[in-house]
Amino acid sequence: MNEKVRIATLRERREAGGRIVMVTAYDYPTGRLADEAGVDVVLVGDSLGNAVLGFEDTIPVTLDHMIHHTAAVCRGVEHALLVADMPFMTYKITSEEALRNAARLIQEGGAEAVKLEGGREVCPTVERIAEAGIPVMGHIGLTPQSIHALSGYSVQGKEASEARRLVEDARLLERAGCFAVVLECLAWSLAREVTDAVGIPTIGIGAGAECSGQVLVLADLLGMTFSKPAKFVKRYADIGADIRLAIRTFANEVREGRYPGRAHAYQGQKKAAG
Ligand code: KIV
Repeated sequence: MNEKVRIATLRERREAGGRIVMVTAYDYPTGRLADEAGVDVVLVGDSLGNAVLGFEDTIPVTLDHMIHHTAAVCRGVEHALLVADMPFMTYKITSEEALRNAARLIQEGGAEAVKLEGGREVCPTVERIAEAGIPVMGHIGLTPQSIHALSGYSVQGKEASEARRLVEDARLLERAGCFAVVLECLAWSLAREVTDAVGIPTIGIGAGAECSGQVLVLADLLGMTFSKPAKFVKRYADIGADIRLAIRTFANEVREGRYPGRAHAYQGQKKAAG
């Protein structure tokens, strides 16, 4: 049986040179299946917006959406560490408001930690939340909540000054109290530099193999998306095609009178008493 994953487990894994596995989940079945598959961290990502709710990006995702979905995932997760994303603008106005919102994800959603996007500018908020006893995961590089400011989804840290800034941001997030940091869409060499610069685990997505762990969005991993996946994505299944085929087969069988068949009928009828 898998042991419960805690913050300390991730630190020990990094120190021992092992790899951390994180996937996103959005509801009870995906949370439970990810947990049963033995991942270390289940992230209720705000990728919920694109992956499940049909939005263009993560910006329309609200705190109430996140709490609702985190609570469902929580009911399916026993062993993995459960992390919930703080959605757009729920942690950037004031640190007090951020703490109140993080507390709701923990208390109402059942998360064990929160994740938020940003570098040095979010450090006072990370400090406030972490000091209150809520573990915080950072997220730098491509930060989808800033999609308009970043002018699109592209590799980050290409300029030397930008790369230096990302390394320094990771150090500052560690100092502010983050227990791990997601590195999204960085060159392999830069992700390695960041990983070497900090003592906390780094979890890469589109950032090469030399991070302390890897995360993928479950819908990408399973082949349940409707647009071309990013270059770094590896599809491990084509569940979308399987679902479509299953539903089409059901529809055909109903239309042709082949379902339900005898095997699906309740047999026998009790005789009326008396
Ligand atoms: O929302 C999300 O799924 C994420 C991962 C890409 C790390 O933040």
